[in-house]
Amino acid sequence: MRFPILRLPQTLLAALLLALIPSASFTQATTPQPPLLLGAAWYPEQWPEAQWDHDLTLMEQAHMHVVRVGEFAWSTMEPSDNHFDFVWLDHAIAAAAKHHISVVLGTPTAAPPAWLTAKYPETLRIDEGGRRDEHGGREQFSANNPKYRELCVRVAHAMAARYGHNPNVLGWQIDNEIGDPTFDDSAKLQWHQWLQKKYGNIADLNRRWTTAYWSQTYDTFDQVPYHSRGENPALLLDYKHFVTDTWTSYISAQADTIRPLALKSQFITTNTMGWFSTYDHYIMHKNLDMAAWDDYVPDGHPDYPRNAALHDLVRGYKQKNFWVMETQPAFVNWGPINTALPPGVTREMAWQAIGHGADAVLYWQWRSALNGQEEYHGTLVGADGEPVPIYSEIAKLGADFAAAGPALAGTSPHAQVAILQSYDAHWAIDFQKHSADFDYPKNVLDTYRAISPIAQTIDVISPESDLTPYPIVFAPALNILSEAEAAHLLAYVKQGGQLVLGTRSAMKNADNGLDPHRQPGPFTEALGAHVDQFYALDPKDPAPTVSGPLGTGTASIWAEVLSTQPDTKVLLTYGPENGWLAGKPAAVSHPYGKGTLTYIGTVLDPKLMASVATQLLSAADIHPTLPNLPTGVELMPRTAPNKPPVWIIINHTNTPQHIILPANMKNLLTSSSAPTLDLPAHEVAVLTTP
Ligand code: GLA
Repeated sequence: MRFPILRLPQTLLAALLLALIPSASFTQATTPQPPLLLGAAWYPEQWPEAQWDHDLTLMEQAHMHVVRVGEFAWSTMEPSDNHFDFVWLDHAIAAAAKHHISVVLGTPTAAPPAWLTAKYPETLRIDEGGRRDEHGGREQFSANNPKYRELCVRVAHAMAARYGHNPNVLGWQIDNEIGDPTFDDSAKLQWHQWLQKKYGNIADLNRRWTTAYWSQTYDTFDQVPYHSRGENPALLLDYKHFVTDTWTSYISAQADTIRPLALKSQFITTNTMGWFSTYDHYIMHKNLDMAAWDDYVPDGHPDYPRNAALHDLVRGYKQKNFWVMETQPAFVNWGPINTALPPGVTREMAWQAIGHGADAVLYWQWRSALNGQEEYHGTLVGADGEPVPIYSEIAKLGADFAAAGPALAGTSPHAQVAILQSYDAHWAIDFQKHSADFDYPKNVLDTYRAISPIAQTIDVISPESDLTPYPIVFAPALNILSEAEAAHLLAYVKQGGQLVLGTRSAMKNADNGLDPHRQPGPFTEALGAHVDQFYALDPKDPAPTVSGPLGTGTASIWAEVLSTQPDTKVLLTYGPENGWLAGKPAAVSHPYGKGTLTYIGTVLDPKLMASVATQLLSAADIHPTLPNLPTGVELMPRTAPNKPPVWIIINHTNTPQHIILPANMKNLLTSSSAPTLDLPAHEVAVLTTP
């Protein structure tokens, strides 16, 4: 006998059912995941639903367990103003789940639909030259425009209300590669409001900016121009701080909308772009659960120490493991010559990411749309939907992850050495290079290259971070120093830290103004020295020599000459060949409290810098986890309490390498155990103690 079913409208019926079920039962966790995740960017909205199962089957066969979906699907999710269609996304998430593939949902706000910018043209971005963006590309929006913010929050809310409790949704990516500033009226208005809030009164701004210079003195805040270059250094630094606050609030508006509607186990992140520095990534990540970045090598020739430093930079945003949200299946389409990574190097790059603290690697993209600006980009399947050669290499990586994942679960890199990375310093140097060859990221990277063979694991972190875990900290070109940062760093040295300041350090205050102490500003007393003068070095001239207790070599880019107190130790002195520099100190150190402050006033040649780094690290009792590794072989330990350490070792060279291990170790990728390791070119080993 069939029971009569009360015919209620579905929504009312659903509401009644929801009301009956205690909300707690909806706080399930997300579907359990393997410790290491392999995946791809997948765009189901670009394909007939009948195609999806074939895609997902091929993904599952490649041991993929995650796809990122939706970050460019706004016109499909909201085909007209405030009318949403998520049925296709329901089906895509369910189809993925059938193949044991979870989903990271992207909010689609990097590419607004045509109806949106047509109905609200004020939401379009305006570039610094005054040209208004048009529909047809992406990032054509103004992140400062209130209407755009409102519509972004609305679509994020609609998505979170629908998927926030879907156990197959692992997490959320807000927007995509944010950063391009806008120069529209809303930005300019908010800029003036921001200045008013920061300074309170125009007199204080004039004083701190020294606007008597060139009669810049402002009478009102709305007289202050909104430009990214060619202005007063204090204005330019504040411009960057304003852009940082713009993007931080833009991301937070969506994150704060999603979080109350989402499972606690669903992470919220966004995908960033390495050294790209339109905003301060430490500040922007404060309201996010995890960092993620897009790792590309457009010319197909990886610079492994550079890529290592970038992974460490990203890990440093939250000082925890991160995701590689995008990387290339062999090649990209946006470089001048989009060479493919050689066979095996796509897998090698992925393992380097894991070694530096990534827990997921996703490839951009699964398949090219049959039209659109990125038809030629590397993919895992071709225009026919069938695997291309790189598919099998990535499938092998998937098998690797399955084999080694359990041992790596919950582990992270743990460094004893830190490099301080500062967006203020980066921006201040970019605004006024004074030596065209001076590049802040390169200066940080040169320091990283000198340290890494000995330190092996390095944290790249903000100057405001807790420094107590590190016996030694390097601060390359820490050009701007706030009083708080100076006090924080001096306290670190006083309690026993070794702080190594690089050239151009502590020259400016928080307003990007010259510190009247001379360099290194607040550290002059503790260092027992100050910079008498700085000289840009012309690479066409003979490189000045330097020599002393730390060794012999040459200087480049800058030569800062130091004056010292009697008890300050001179570590390097300039040779006699350059008039202004002749016989003057180039590098000094001085005890301060229980620690030591060292200042290196030039860019040393790589060989000498490596030797200096080794000496300074040794003095801080820092030694390689595995000494005497062949050049080009990288060791990346990941550890966790109560677990055997796991060593990821990669041979980045083009020749086989023989490595002597400290004991019999098991390679989780081959299940072989031995006290030595023979690694073919670009091969990987994941070792643990048996
Ligand atoms: C960026 C974007 C992706 C795609 C890739 C191509 O990382 O996030 O949408 O355009 O580049 O390499």
